[in-house]
Amino acid sequence: MTAHKLTAKVRAGGCASKLSPKILDRVLSGMPRFSNENVLVGFETSDDAGIYRISKDIALVQTVDFFTPVVDDPYTFGAIAAANALSDVYAMGGKPISALSILAWPADEDASILEQILRGGAEKLKEADCVILGGHSVNDPEVKFGYAVTGLVHPDKFKPNAGARVDDVLVLTKKIGTGIITTALKQGIAKLEHIDAAISSMLTLNRAAAEAMAEFDVHGLTDVTGFGLLGHAREMAIASGLTLEINSADVQFLEGAVDYVRAGALSGGLRNNRDFVSSCVEGTCQFDDLLYDPQTSGGLLISLPETDAARLLEKLPHAFRVGCVRERGVKPLLVL
Ligand code: CO
Ligand code: CO
Repeated sequence: MTAHKLTAKVRAGGCASKLSPKILDRVLSGMPRFSNENVLVGFETSDDAGIYRISKDIALVQTVDFFTPVVDDPYTFGAIAAANALSDVYAMGGKPISALSILAWPADEDASILEQILRGGAEKLKEADCVILGGHSVNDPEVKFGYAVTGLVHPDKFKPNAGARVDDVLVLTKKIGTGIITTALKQGIAKLEHIDAAISSMLTLNRAAAEAMAEFDVHGLTDVTGFGLLGHAREMAIASGLTLEINSADVQFLEGAVDYVRAGALSGGLRNNRDFVSSCVEGTCQFDDLLYDPQTSGGLLISLPETDAARLLEKLPHAFRVGCVRERGVKPLLVL
């Protein structure tokens, strides 16, 4: 699968982690507020995407995500960047329709590598029936790539983080561990079969999961990305005013992830997440590093009634339960 390699200068190794959530929270809290009745979801609630109503039947879902290479193969990097950017539209219950690419590229770098990145992204967007309308590029010594994606959703039917209800079951649609495994890759200690499994997970669109979910009574929905499972569960818990119980024994990890935690393959992003989220967590577990691991193109975290969860799991054989929703307890998160 590695016909084309990114050159030494641009290969996986940049820092793909988000800005520290502590800094982001502080800065955003000081921003001016907009009052507009068509803003159905704004930046204040840390949701997956913004939602703007343009008619009584249609609202726009808008999101943007870009990062440094997480893998060495440029085509694969482009495709992962697309799957990752699309995910926040699915995580609002929306359908992606169009995308704009965002590119930072070294002036003296091989253009055939760039072509591979763009091709990987374009073919992934095609798989999602999402068109590319254009984009913007700048010269930068460090490669960065991603998309701004626009989707559509009915103004009454989008799925915010808020909305989880007591006694709901929490379902996750992808295994955890892409951050640990890509960090191990950068450290040169990851096994090929573990890298391939992580890549195939990151390449998988959340489209099928979102479509399977559509017929059920989903109360709360988000995707697990840069803030890790606990970071995104925290947002859902706080937005819903309840406690999310995570049963660590039920959380499935990508093969190799536990070994690389033991080997210390922890990213700066993981440490930032722990720093920010751990004060919201009661309880602990073995290998809890993985629960803070930043995910690239991670799965959907779905809060829905028990009977619906059972039927959804029949339709999505790779998905699994990770916990349940309780009345607000001591902290927003309870890890068992
Ligand atoms: Co998201
Ligand atoms: Co995002």
